Amino acid sequence: MTILRRGKFITFEGIDGAGKSTHLAWLEHFLQDKGVEVVVTREPGGTALGEALRKLLLDHQQVMHAETEALLMFAARREHLDKVILPALERGAWVISDRFTDASFAYQGGGRGVPAARLEILEQWVQGNFSSDLTLYFDVPVTISRQRVQSARVADRFELEPDLFFERVRQAYLQRASQFPERIKVVDGSLPLAEVKMAMVEAVEEFWLSHAPSR
Ligand SMILES: Nc1ncnc2c1ncn2[C@@H]1O[C@H](COP(=O)(O)OP(=O)(O)OP(=O)(O)O)[C@@H](O)[C@H]1O
Ligand SMILES: [Mg+2]
Repeated sequence: MTILRRGKFITFEGIDGAGKSTHLAWLEHFLQDKGVEVVVTREPGGTALGEALRKLLLDHQQVMHAETEALLMFAARREHLDKVILPALERGAWVISDRFTDASFAYQGGGRGVPAARLEILEQWVQGNFSSDLTLYFDVPVTISRQRVQSARVADRFELEPDLFFERVRQAYLQRASQFPERIKVVDGSLPLAEVKMAMVEAVEEFWLSHAPSR
């Protein structure tokens, strides 16, 4: 996949309630203040087709094979890259996505048990060597995740899974972070909000210093 890629691609990862949405809003403002165009998006979703697939993927009445789930995630991602992410990066925008490919390795890989080798085939097919430039992984124990999202809404197809599922997802995220330590920054999301923010600010400012667009 040949791309000019003038903008940067930052992704937020973590299980439910880890703090992705809370902190993503801060990063959006931080980058806007720096004068760059910011595109905020999410996975699964980000396009009309992707959002339709998201509905199916999160619908707790849907029963599907783990590999069907993985294929749909990557199908939505193909569309997302083509319609939103790559065009934005090419025009110089910075793109922030609430979840991306690391989530497939965590949820479909760790959680559902789809072999990483299969996911890597899909990853190669859908995105070639393209990956995020920076990923902030908000790490929280499953008990904290449960407490934060409890009673907040009706559980989706993933949230209905037992704690053990989310333990596997978390371990897969941590494993992924140790596999790509340069790209994935682990932030302890169990700390008080102000401290989580401080850790994130540090990671983002370090990244900004080495990647700010030249003027
Ligand atoms: N460090 C924290 N300390 C206390 N509460 C927090 C912290 N981080 C997030 N929360 C609270 O937990 C709830 C869930 O946070 P948030 O929506 O940011 O999580 P999320 O990672 O986006 O979850 P989801 O994957 O379900 O969208 C919110 O009410 C938020 O205010
Ligand atoms: Mg969220």
